[in-house]
Amino acid sequence: MDVKSLIREIPDFPKPGILFRDITTLLRDPEGLRSTIDTLTEKCTDLAPDYIVGMESRGFIFGAPLAYKLGAGFIPVRKPGKLPAAVHTVEYELEYGTDKLEIHQDALRPGSRVLIVDDLIATGGTAAATASLVQQTGCELVGFGFIIELVDLSGRKLLPDIPIKTLFQF
Ligand code: PRP
Ligand code: HPA
Repeated sequence: MDVKSLIREIPDFPKPGILFRDITTLLRDPEGLRSTIDTLTEKCTDLAPDYIVGMESRGFIFGAPLAYKLGAGFIPVRKPGKLPAAVHTVEYELEYGTDKLEIHQDALRPGSRVLIVDDLIATGGTAAATASLVQQTGCELVGFGFIIELVDLSGRKLLPDIPIKTLFQF
């Protein structure tokens, strides 16, 4: 089955000139969804994470089933003001302005193995910011998993030198 072809292209979203890779058409396909989670699991098993950290919101869709399959815990990284207990916060650069992400201070056991998962890496800003949040907690960051990598944007250059597992490159 050609799972990559289930990812739909939407021209000029959210802004003129951007070709948006839409995963909703992959998610709605039962075989495509199962194959995606199974392949991500196969690629990440060797990293033996204790926790999957997934970023709001599309990182939740793939991170939680991966955690289930690997027997790991799932920890959400959220946009500001959503997490109820004490948080670590990171501010990072966007094309215009800055944004913030947060993680619960008590979410990760120091010394545990952490794998960061998101649907897509573009500029790498979101993943690099999440890596710095995880590193603030004293955990060992063991890798990254992405369904899609937009290779022309070279996002992986912002990431530390650890394994990066991707399924589809555009
Ligand atoms: C998208 C995507 C990644 C991020 C990648 O999320 O799901 O998290 O952008 O971009 P980057 O590599 O340039 O940082 P978005 O911020 O659109 O949020 P959403 O998942 O809530 O739609
Ligand atoms: N598709 C989905 N999400 C994105 C993209 C894209 O092309 N670029 C940045 N976030």
